[in-house]
Amino acid sequence: QPATETAGSRPGGGEPSAPRRRAVTSYGDEGFSGFLRGAFLAGSGRDREDLARPVVGVVDTSSDFNPCHRQMPQIVDSVKQGVLEAGGLPMVFPTISLGEILLSPTSMLFRNLMAMETEEMVAAQPMDAVVLIGGCDKTVPAQLMAAASGDVPAIVEVTGPMITSTWRGERLGACTDCRRMWAKHRAGELDEQETEEVQGALATTPGTCMVMGTASTMAAMAETLGMMLPGGATPPSATGERLRHATATGRRAVELARTGTVARDILTREAFENALTVLAAIGGSTNAVVHLLAIARRAGVDLTLDDFDEVARRIPLLLDLKPSGRGYMEDFHRAGGVPVLLTALRDHLHLDTVGVLGVPLRELLAGVEPPATWQDTIRTPADPLGDAGALAVLRGSLAPDGAVLKVSAASPELLEHTGPAAVFDSPADAVARLDDPDSGITAEHVLVLRNAGPVGAGMPEAGSLPIPKHLAAQGVTDMVRVSDARMSGTSYGTVVLHCAPEAAVGGPLALVRDGDLIRLDAPQRRIELLVPEQELEARRAELRPPQPPARGWRRLYAETVQQAHLGADLDFMGPAGE
Ligand code: FES
Ligand code: MG
Repeated sequence: QPATETAGSRPGGGEPSAPRRRAVTSYGDEGFSGFLRGAFLAGSGRDREDLARPVVGVVDTSSDFNPCHRQMPQIVDSVKQGVLEAGGLPMVFPTISLGEILLSPTSMLFRNLMAMETEEMVAAQPMDAVVLIGGCDKTVPAQLMAAASGDVPAIVEVTGPMITSTWRGERLGACTDCRRMWAKHRAGELDEQETEEVQGALATTPGTCMVMGTASTMAAMAETLGMMLPGGATPPSATGERLRHATATGRRAVELARTGTVARDILTREAFENALTVLAAIGGSTNAVVHLLAIARRAGVDLTLDDFDEVARRIPLLLDLKPSGRGYMEDFHRAGGVPVLLTALRDHLHLDTVGVLGVPLRELLAGVEPPATWQDTIRTPADPLGDAGALAVLRGSLAPDGAVLKVSAASPELLEHTGPAAVFDSPADAVARLDDPDSGITAEHVLVLRNAGPVGAGMPEAGSLPIPKHLAAQGVTDMVRVSDARMSGTSYGTVVLHCAPEAAVGGPLALVRDGDLIRLDAPQRRIELLVPEQELEARRAELRPPQPPARGWRRLYAETVQQAHLGADLDFMGPAGE
């Protein structure tokens, strides 16, 4: 009999859970099920002694289509080693892998699919704990969503960031520099040869984008939430430190199998408030807003957009990483990573939260030094890099349920701006017409992109529309942009995102016409369409809802996905299916 084969329920409410009962295949005869299981595992080299150990599932998200996970085989090996050292039996299995760059139309369309698959495969296979290894943008959110919904103790490991390279003496990293250099190419400052050289210098090692984009942000969120062992967010993918962290994670997973602590014991309201505090301090990706809302909902924690705004108003920018600052993840790592940042933020954190390590944050931070004086990547609230308010939640006639603006990546002179709308009906429409030199678009215009929300298009990272070529050539580097899309965490600019409700469900964005005045007032947290309500009523009567996809996942997604301000999860994935 496996040591942990005891019936147990998860009490929740912070009490440690009892070890769970392994799932059994249903043949209508439990004895036969166990006999058959033993036979087939014997055939794969596992004997009774192996099966008596805690079984730790290890999720392998390798994929040739996901270069950010290129180090996965080594990381999986290290996790397995840790599991074995601690007396467990590692069982590696695959799930979907989501690589940002090679997925069409957008990885976001598949985050919920990966979350669902991960949850189901963890529940359906006989394991006592699981190590979820992700990295690229949507993988960690999907795995955290799965963990929050599941009853199997889970611990997160990430592939870790890439290491920077240089081009002609200039330090480069994905993907803020990808965008910056591409913008230079569009403005005619880089020729074909130079552009090709840059292309070879942006992503030269295994790992995830090494700026404070979505992957780095979600790694920091996973660590702050307590779902990852301390120090795990920052070690670069290609280093021994990453592998040592993976080994420690494997060892810890065996302990979790023994104690039965599950994600919902860890993912408390206080843990999320700590995550929001860190999100503000790191100038994290706007995508984290959608992901954290989705994870919280699954964990049964009542988190709203207003919580993000409230925390962001208090917490200054402390981390000097692109796109809000200058550095890269390896600089953050050398400066001490998330634990040192948490020490700097100590007065703003709930210190009684307990993560996978099993000790309160207070105790954990007792052994961590404050930011060292030899580095300037991690600042302190007394000497911050930027003011509070790196992220703002806007409301107004253009986004009654909310929109998000990354103030720290915006141009200060555009934070209060009124201009005429130039409307694009889809990302494809924008691609087709943005660069038309006769468009009449000026730097004063507000670029509006619609039908790019969750229902309309799976919410692609299309919100940071490029500056029209003729304006870029005149030296225009930023314009106000408004959409129901997301933007890459590595992007910058005055870009209002996640407008809810979105155009495809009849939100006000659908009513905007070329030339309408739009007013952005970030200090007042407003985004307004300056058109009389009577006129909008008339336009609303003419709206035709778009045709939903005919079949398959895309149909299920379009029919059941929630709006961005709720986390864009499927509407039946809450704790009780609501
Ligand atoms: Fe994978 Fe940036 S593309 S982390
Ligand atoms: Mg990204």
